[in-house]
Amino acid sequence: MIHQNRRKELLSKLDDNAVVIVSTNSEQKRNSDVNYPFRPDSSFWYLTGFIEPDAIAVFSKNNYTIFLKPKDITKEIWNGLRLGVEMAPKTLLANNAYDIDTFLDKIESLLTSESSLYFDAPGNIGWKDVSSTNKLNQSIALKFRNRTQLLDPYLSEMRLIKDSTEIQHMQTAADLASKAHMQAMIRTRPGLYEYHITAEFDTLFRKEDSEHSYPPIVAGGENACILHYNENNKLLNDGELLLIDAGCEILGYASDITRTFPINGKFSEPQKEIYEIVLKAQKSAIASIVPGEAVNKPHEVACDVITQGLIKLGIMDDASSLRDFYMHGTGHWLGLDVHDVGTKEINNTIRKFKVGMVTTVEPGIYIRKSDKVDSKYWNIGIRIEDDVLVTEDGHHILSKAAIKELEDIEQLMSQ
Ligand code: GLY
Ligand code: MN
Ligand code: MN
Repeated sequence: MIHQNRRKELLSKLDDNAVVIVSTNSEQKRNSDVNYPFRPDSSFWYLTGFIEPDAIAVFSKNNYTIFLKPKDITKEIWNGLRLGVEMAPKTLLANNAYDIDTFLDKIESLLTSESSLYFDAPGNIGWKDVSSTNKLNQSIALKFRNRTQLLDPYLSEMRLIKDSTEIQHMQTAADLASKAHMQAMIRTRPGLYEYHITAEFDTLFRKEDSEHSYPPIVAGGENACILHYNENNKLLNDGELLLIDAGCEILGYASDITRTFPINGKFSEPQKEIYEIVLKAQKSAIASIVPGEAVNKPHEVACDVITQGLIKLGIMDDASSLRDFYMHGTGHWLGLDVHDVGTKEINNTIRKFKVGMVTTVEPGIYIRKSDKVDSKYWNIGIRIEDDVLVTEDGHHILSKAAIKELEDIEQLMSQ
């Protein structure tokens, strides 16, 4: 029902003759007979709830047709059960269902001369997309050249505002990942390897039928200064920090949390100094999130706090070198995709926060060995990241169960 309501809502934003086409992903080969774990296309999942590979949904005000893989006893013995053409209308609340291989023959019969076609949903790579060439979209574009429109902007606007079911899944994903971050704090000690701690996340996520929402970053010492580090295979050294950026997925919805803590359980003075700046930047940025505030405000606030903090420590002379130490944005939309759909600007102006949006808030400071600063600060990479829902009265931190106060971390790790 929820998917039917979403299709209705989407159509209400389009013109009366709109026909929407969205496709899901195909399996991707890893090697010989082995595929990567399958993940449905987010937009297709959002609008249909159907999670098999190779399917296309076509819907308008008075018709919903789904194209999918037909039942095939031999293929099902090898690769698992399929819903099939016969059961699909009842299960998916569709009017008709057909074999996916008949799509290009049948699509024309689902259109009239008045139809305007909306396709290219956000994230959609198209049915049987085997390379960067999107075959579905190319064939539609060729066939219906004069009456196609992009679906992306309309659907992105919808996905940007989360409904109560989505928020519930995101809260569950944030709670589970928070629990894993705290477990990691408890288990970490010098002499272990980064993959030992990665395994704590793997185990907790899998035990709840969940999985990573992106490759986790488990980065000890200097590795924390590599923003997308995911080798996760180095020794954890006494006296260094461990930065962990890891989140999980619940029914498609992501959490994305970063915590940084001392491998031996006790922050050194220089680590403390930098940590306190990042924490203050993060809390101030979160405090700026209220409905009606510009969505770039958290970044401005975080940059100000970090600039002031690093000048005070003598690490920077002025704001012009901020990017040497803080070189990424302060947040991104979060939802079915970890970097979720939705622009930060609309009609060439910065968007304002609205109830139901979910953003990450993730400032950091990264000081490499090569940086011309006091060597006591070298190899300190700290990021603190929470997932924040915009609410009527301000915001709610979905990931607040993951502790981040310096004293709380030291206390938890001393147990
Ligand atoms: N984990 C990806 C990010 O924080 O954006
Ligand atoms: Mn992250
Ligand atoms: Mn993030």
